[in-house]
Amino acid sequence: MENIFNFVVQSLVKAGIESPRLEARILIAEVLHCRPEDVYDGINISAEVRQKIINMLKQRLQHMPLDKIIGHKEFYKYDFWVNENVLSPRPDTEILLEKALTLAQNNSAKKLLDLGTGSGCLIISLLKELPTTQGVAVDISNQALAVAQQNAINLKVSDRLQFVNADWFAADFVKKIGQEFEIIISNPPYIPRSDIKDLAPEVKDFDPMLALDGGNSGYDSYEKIAELTPQLLTDNGYILLEAGVGQAPKIADIFTKHGLRLVDIVKDLSGIERCVILQKVVA
Ligand SMILES: C[S@@+](CC[C@H](N)C(=O)[O-])C[C@H]1O[C@@H](n2cnc3c(N)ncnc32)[C@H](O)[C@@H]1O
Repeated sequence: MENIFNFVVQSLVKAGIESPRLEARILIAEVLHCRPEDVYDGINISAEVRQKIINMLKQRLQHMPLDKIIGHKEFYKYDFWVNENVLSPRPDTEILLEKALTLAQNNSAKKLLDLGTGSGCLIISLLKELPTTQGVAVDISNQALAVAQQNAINLKVSDRLQFVNADWFAADFVKKIGQEFEIIISNPPYIPRSDIKDLAPEVKDFDPMLALDGGNSGYDSYEKIAELTPQLLTDNGYILLEAGVGQAPKIADIFTKHGLRLVDIVKDLSGIERCVILQKVVA
């Protein structure tokens, strides 16, 4: 029988998929219930396993992202369940998590708010590291909240995490949240609407539109969140926002116009200004 590892790698190469050897290992490991590093060239498999691998490969060749095919994705230190209703957690977002964690630890933060929680990867990772902290996770999508809720159960933080289905553009948003937080984190949708068609198929065809569409300018959600932040933060509290490429200075501007103080703009590992940190300072 043909070498399955080689077959998967060659098929991925032909489809122009990056990191074909790594993806082949992850895909085969998922079916074999082993670790990717245990998959080797020439590995022996049954006809039934082979068929399962081929079925998954077909989805990948349609540009479905690997994590959506296998149903989970590593983020920071943890494994998150994902499906078509949530943004696939991105390594780029880990810088926001690390900065929020340091601020929460240095300020002994007791309450965190995640605006646009998706899979819950940010707030759940933070609560895992901060065993006495409570969180509120907000999303407009009930289907996304169902995923985040399941992840909170799987990762054993559900007793410290409250879920709120709300739209930050709605007039009663602040009332619905009904409390103040020492730290807010948010990775809102930030792609300018006219750019969505040019995104990779893995993103535009498989991440939810609600997670991508930042309105005509890309800044609609930042503008709204900036308006709400002073009412949601405690005095001296912090907000950390993820930024798309080139967006950080404008985001800083939007928030400073609402009275927040710019603390820092932090680059990710690729050197992109990825995380904007601001503080509510009361004179
Ligand atoms: C870019 S995703 C981020 C998901 C997750 N926090 C992460 O970093 O992987 C943005 C999330 O914001 C939610 N969202 C978009 N518009 C919203 C709104 N007006 N009110 C509340 N949530 C919203 C989307 O449903 C989506 O889950």
